[in-house]
Amino acid sequence: MAARSRFAEDCLQAAVSRGVRQALVLGAGLDTFSLRNPYAEAGLRVFEVDHPATQAWKLERLAEVGLTPPASTVFAGVDFETQSLGDALVAAGIEWERPTFFFWLGVVPYLRREAIMATLRFIASLPGAEVVFDYSEPLENFPPGRRAEIQELAARAAAIGEPWLSHFDPTDLSALLRNSGFEGIEDLGLADIAARYPGAAGILIDAGPGPHVIRAVVAG
Ligand SMILES: C[S@@+](CC[C@H](N)C(=O)[O-])C[C@H]1O[C@@H](n2cnc3c(N)ncnc32)[C@H](O)[C@@H]1O
Repeated sequence: MAARSRFAEDCLQAAVSRGVRQALVLGAGLDTFSLRNPYAEAGLRVFEVDHPATQAWKLERLAEVGLTPPASTVFAGVDFETQSLGDALVAAGIEWERPTFFFWLGVVPYLRREAIMATLRFIASLPGAEVVFDYSEPLENFPPGRRAEIQELAARAAAIGEPWLSHFDPTDLSALLRNSGFEGIEDLGLADIAARYPGAAGILIDAGPGPHVIRAVVAG
């Protein structure tokens, strides 16, 4: 989880260098990036987008622990199942004609494929946009000896009401993103994460299939 946030924030740093000044944290949960926004002085606005109930709870928690979000953070409560992201964010002050960076971490595995594709189509329609998200590979990509372990993890997630609804094969996903209008695709599996972030190497005992973090860019 730390590595996926680090990768996303590294991508954002490069995006800010090329002029991006608005970032969306889709399904923000307790993500703290907007509180740390190192580009606030450069003018980066961070829109935290989450289900209104989750966001209200987070705002209460922030107040309880005495954390005041900076002026560069905008909170937008949106129910992805019933509201259009485009319209809801315009009301919050986003300017879709400007390039936008999307953090979309810890959300895709819990969405159905149609909902994922609808969001990717929307992002692909925004010139200069960039998205970073994580996903998992399907069970059949794992060696037979690891499948029982993966199935047990999936059953545990389902038991707490957060079933894994979507998986992608890395080759298929890259093709799907290219066909949707994305370029600059960079997909890190466990071995790539361990190589790039040495601190992660110790816990990545088996660098076989597993979670991935991927970035994709829309031509500006
Ligand atoms: C597993 S959390 C991920 C939180 C954070 N991004 C992270 O990486 O740790 C999933 C997030 O998706 C949000 N979410 C789930 N369904 C949603 C919906 N229908 N509309 C808006 N947000 C939703 C939840 O409120 C939650 O904050």
